[in-house]
Amino acid sequence: MDTSFRLLPETASTMASQVDALYFFLNAVAAFFALLIFALILYFSLRYRRRSESERPAPVATNLKLELLWTIIPFLITMVLFSWSARLFIQMSHSPKDAMRINVVGKQWMWKIQHQDGQREINALHVPVGKPIELMMTSQDVIHSFYVPAFRAKQDVLPGSYSRLAFTPTKVGEYHLFCAEYCGDQHSGMIGKVVVMEPDKYDAWLAGVIPDEPPALAGERLFAQYGCMACHGQRGPTMAGLYGRKVELNDGTTVVADEQYLHESIFDPANKIVRGFTPLMPSFRGQLTEEQVMQLIAYIKSLQYSQSTQEQQ
Ligand code: CUA
Repeated sequence: MDTSFRLLPETASTMASQVDALYFFLNAVAAFFALLIFALILYFSLRYRRRSESERPAPVATNLKLELLWTIIPFLITMVLFSWSARLFIQMSHSPKDAMRINVVGKQWMWKIQHQDGQREINALHVPVGKPIELMMTSQDVIHSFYVPAFRAKQDVLPGSYSRLAFTPTKVGEYHLFCAEYCGDQHSGMIGKVVVMEPDKYDAWLAGVIPDEPPALAGERLFAQYGCMACHGQRGPTMAGLYGRKVELNDGTTVVADEQYLHESIFDPANKIVRGFTPLMPSFRGQLTEEQVMQLIAYIKSLQYSQSTQEQQ
């Protein structure tokens, strides 16, 4: 039996203690006002009690100072809470440039994870300690939520959309991974673990897993297999250097070619037509899994990378 009692889960990421501080502040504010109101109710009910049958209270005129006081003070407190939590939220959804990127696909009822060199895991995520990690996540079916209490990290995982979750683990160990969004009758079984390892042990672990095809290579293969190059680069826009670039569309607007745009262009190609092109491309919805779309995007990203390195040379 586990005899250690904890009020809060372990803290094992750089965010954890910051989230806890905000949580304690919220509780302190709530407790302060709960006690204040409780004490005032008691005090007022005694102080202003009816003393005789004939007593009639005098009408109370508006007290402007009091009205301002109890409007401005709560407003300032909520602004502190808002800016504090917004800052944490932004930190959690942005990761440094050198972050280790890992793909996550949620599906009923498992977490499918793929590292950049192709290693795959199911319901487990191995990461090195002290290294910023960025998860790029999507769902194959319904809404799931990737939740690691020890990191105080939770992010919904949505079908047809990419969400990111950034964290830096600070302590070696094994931590619970939960799905935190009800996703069907085996939702409670959609659990796993995050294993934080010393960097050298992590490298050894990585070397010991027989890698699957790396996502970018698998994407290149899919690109050929589905005949994408029959059009792209000729009747269709080229993929070289596309990722991250601003794209002009037929309707005069521009979009940045990020993961979301590429995903949409594969499943709903008619939505955003690049200027000067005609909507010829068929939808690949139902033909490609979310993992395959992630692989295609990894391939398109790699074209961007090789082009920019050529420019540097
Ligand atoms: Cu997936 Cu709950």
